[in-house]
Amino acid sequence: MSNDKQVDSGRRVLLGATCVAGGAVGLGTAGVLVSTFQPSEKAKAAGAPVEVSVAGMAPGEMKTVEWRGKPVWILKRSPEMLASLKSTTDDVADPNSERNPGELTPDYARNEYRSIKPEYLVAVGICSHLGCSPTSKFTAGPQPNLPDDWAGGFICPCHGSTFDLAGRVFKNVPAPDNLQVPRHMFVGDNLIVGKDEKGEA
Ligand code: FES
Repeated sequence: MSNDKQVDSGRRVLLGATCVAGGAVGLGTAGVLVSTFQPSEKAKAAGAPVEVSVAGMAPGEMKTVEWRGKPVWILKRSPEMLASLKSTTDDVADPNSERNPGELTPDYARNEYRSIKPEYLVAVGICSHLGCSPTSKFTAGPQPNLPDDWAGGFICPCHGSTFDLAGRVFKNVPAPDNLQVPRHMFVGDNLIVGKDEKGEA
């Protein structure tokens, strides 16, 4: 059964902020809780892999699901979107996903599309600067707050970091790294986020 959960953009911002705040609280109290803490069924469910049907997604369509309290984007890229990545390669900071590969890009996504199947981008929608959730800007061309040669991608409204349609961060923006590609795998028409052939994240 599908476990789709649509998350609107306002919710995504909240999720990003909650993630950062929750991490700080968790670190501060871990020592106290370690002997008595038992994760609830709800907490276990929140950490479990999420299964999403990608059947019927149209080119250019994006779904957002929640995994471990974070928004995960699934973008079905059109041929034009895939072609745009050729034009952005020279302008992004880490075109081959060589930074923090263990954390940010699984080996099977360390390619020009940062994906298993070129048409599907699967990425955690949290900016690598301070944890806001970027906004999709798929329309190419000149527009406010974006360069005139914009090829489509994402902009983080917090401090203006931009990412291309593979989640690669552009040079000279506050965000230091590409968006995280979580462990994932396809089983038929379903995408599983948080798990791959090697195990769970
Ligand atoms: S949090 Fe994204 S640019 Fe600052």
